[in-house]
Amino acid sequence: MILVTGATGTVGSEVVRELAGRGAPVRAFVRSLEKAAMFDGLGVDVVQGDLEDAASVATALDGADHLFLLTAVPPNQVELERGVVEAAASSGVEHIVKLSALNVADDSPVNFFRWHRETERNIEASGAGWTHLRPNNFFQNLLFQVDAIREQGAFYGPFGDAPISSIDVRDIAAVSATVLMEPGHMGKTLDLTGPVALTHAEMASSLTDALGREVSYVNVSLDDARASMLGMGMPEYIANDLTTLSGELAGGSGSGTTATVESVTGKPARPLEAFASDNARAFGS
Ligand SMILES: NC(=O)c1ccc[n+]([C@@H]2O[C@H](COP(=O)([O-])OP(=O)(O)OC[C@H]3O[C@@H](n4cnc5c(N)ncnc54)[C@H](OP(=O)(O)O)[C@@H]3O)[C@@H](O)[C@H]2O)c1
Repeated sequence: MILVTGATGTVGSEVVRELAGRGAPVRAFVRSLEKAAMFDGLGVDVVQGDLEDAASVATALDGADHLFLLTAVPPNQVELERGVVEAAASSGVEHIVKLSALNVADDSPVNFFRWHRETERNIEASGAGWTHLRPNNFFQNLLFQVDAIREQGAFYGPFGDAPISSIDVRDIAAVSATVLMEPGHMGKTLDLTGPVALTHAEMASSLTDALGREVSYVNVSLDDARASMLGMGMPEYIANDLTTLSGELAGGSGSGTTATVESVTGKPARPLEAFASDNARAFGS
């Protein structure tokens, strides 16, 4: 049995779908049974709980031999994930696949990246087998700007003209499923990127082609990007960290590409055009 945490989120929901589609026994750990309705008919075992509630984590781990570990970015992420990792290792989980991020490091200026690295280390020391998945920025982040794209034909960011090898979350899910279901991936750290690094102006051009109408990229300052995130109600510690991360990306930290999606899954990573046309309705086309 493969237990998936963060199962109702952007990445986790695709991981659950991918595993179920491949016929794997999969259990989704969810806070909301209402949200879990997205898995109806897929043959997915659903367990309701909260990562903050150790008893519910223990119940979900019962009979699980693999764990896909994803949390959002709560301020107590390291402590929360340490509890889940220790519970998993002591309940006999053989393999923990951790959703981390590209460029995580002990000395990263991005808090989230230091936290991810600390959890990676805790997993490595847990006694369970492990695989760390380190994806670059998600194409799906563009879905946070669907209103601007529909109404103004524009999206915004502080990335200047830096190329970034963003990735489709469905490819992260495909890698996750392969790593969870097939042998040969334990003890590996996989950097996951899209097929090419694009500037945001190039992304706008791809969206224009895929959606059949003009979409442009508007560059804003890091301060304006932070103010906008705060204005949307984002907690300050997240807005601050995403601003730091955006500065790193604007400086070129996300420009490298890897062929890991293809080498693990046998299929090349999806281009932005595929993501855009598959989500054309959401973008108003
Ligand atoms: N966005 C990017 O470009 C990017 C790039 C690289 C790495 N990452 C990493 O990806 C992760 C975020 O993934 P995502 O975008 O899939 O997140 P997401 O869409 O925000 O989903 C978070 C999931 O975690 C669940 N969750 C949150 N707190 C929980 C708790 N206390 N107990 C149980 N479940 C809980 C949420 O449940 P509810 O549905 O009930 O809220 C949801 O299912 C972060 O670690 C981030 O650092 C992101």
